[in-house]
Amino acid sequence: MTIPHTSVLLEEMLHFFKDSHLRLFVDATLGAGGHSEAFLKAHPEIELLIGIDQDPAARAIAEHRLAPWSKKVKIIAGNFSHLSDYLQELNIENVDGIIFDLGVSSMQLDQAEKGFSFMREGPLDMRMDPTNPLTAAEIINTWSEGDMARVFRDYGEEKKWRYAAQAIVKERQIHPFTTTVQLADFLRKKLYTNKKGIHPATLIFQGLRICVNGELQAIEKALPTAIAHLAPGGRLGVISFHSLEDRIVKNLTRFAASDKMDTSGIGGGLFLDKDPEVSLITRKPVEPSDEEMAKNPRSRSAKLRVVEKR
Ligand SMILES: C[S@@+](CC[C@H](N)C(=O)[O-])C[C@H]1O[C@@H](n2cnc3c(N)ncnc32)[C@H](O)[C@@H]1O
Repeated sequence: MTIPHTSVLLEEMLHFFKDSHLRLFVDATLGAGGHSEAFLKAHPEIELLIGIDQDPAARAIAEHRLAPWSKKVKIIAGNFSHLSDYLQELNIENVDGIIFDLGVSSMQLDQAEKGFSFMREGPLDMRMDPTNPLTAAEIINTWSEGDMARVFRDYGEEKKWRYAAQAIVKERQIHPFTTTVQLADFLRKKLYTNKKGIHPATLIFQGLRICVNGELQAIEKALPTAIAHLAPGGRLGVISFHSLEDRIVKNLTRFAASDKMDTSGIGGGLFLDKDPEVSLITRKPVEPSDEEMAKNPRSRSAKLRVVEKR
C-alpha cells in the first residue's frame, strides 16, 4: 500500500512519550494512521488506541494500515470536539496520552474533488466531513459581503479582505463561482501580489477551509476536554500548522499550566488563584529539522507543543 501522507514531527512526538506507559491512547486526528502506527510499534503496552477522524477516506486508509493491531484499535467516525462523548460511550474516564496533528492531510489536499487546492480543478467544497452541510461554494455565492469579508480577515488574515469580498460579490451576480480554479484565477487577477512563490488566493482559501470545517472552534472545545481526560502524568501533544491554530494551543495550554485566572472578563487584572492542571513540557514549540523540511515542505510551518497532566 502506498501511503499518501507523510507524518510530520513523528520522531519528536514519539520522543516526548518515550517514558510514558500508554495503556489507553487517543489519536484525535487519525489521518493516514502514521502517528498511530508509530505509537503502536513503540508502545506494545497499548491496550486500546482510539483513533478519531471526520473524513471517511482517511479512516479507510488508517484501518487498512493499522490492521495488524485491529484488536486494540477502535476507529471513531466523528469530530474530535466530541471527545468527551466518545470516551463516555466506551466507559473510559481517563487516558494516558492524546495527540492532535491538526488541519488537513496531504491526501485531502491532493484529492481534487475535495476542493481544498487552488492548483487543482474541483468543486468549491472544502469539507473534511462530507456530512457537514456548509461548503465553500455556499459562503462564496450566498453569504453577505460583510460575513464573507470577516472570514477572509479572521481566518485567512488576508490584508485585502474587504476588497476581496467586494469583488467576489460583484462578480457572482454575473458568474456564480463553482470551481476552485475559477475562484483562484479571479483572485489572482484581483489580488495581484509580487511576493514570489505565493499564490494570491492562498490566504482566502485558508480562511474558507477554516470556516467551512469550524476548525478553530473545534480546537478550542477539544483541548480543555483532552486535558480534563488525561490521567495524572498523562501527556498531550499537539501539532499545529499556522499561527491561528498555534495561538489557541499556546493560550489554552498556558492557561491550563497557570496558577492564576483572570476573572475580570476583559483581561483587566482581577486574578484569582487556581490549581494548575498541567506542566508545560515544551516551553517553546518544537519545529521540524532542516532535513525534515527539505524532505517534506508541508512540514515547514509545523509546531509541536506538549503538556503533562499534574
Ligand atoms: C494532518 S492529518 C493527520 C495525519 C496523521 N497524523 C498521520 O500521521 O497520518 C489531520 C487529520 O485530522 C482530521 N481532522 C481535522 N480536524 C478534525 C476534527 N475536528 N475532528 C476529526 N478529525 C479531524 C482530518 O480529516 C485529517 O485526516
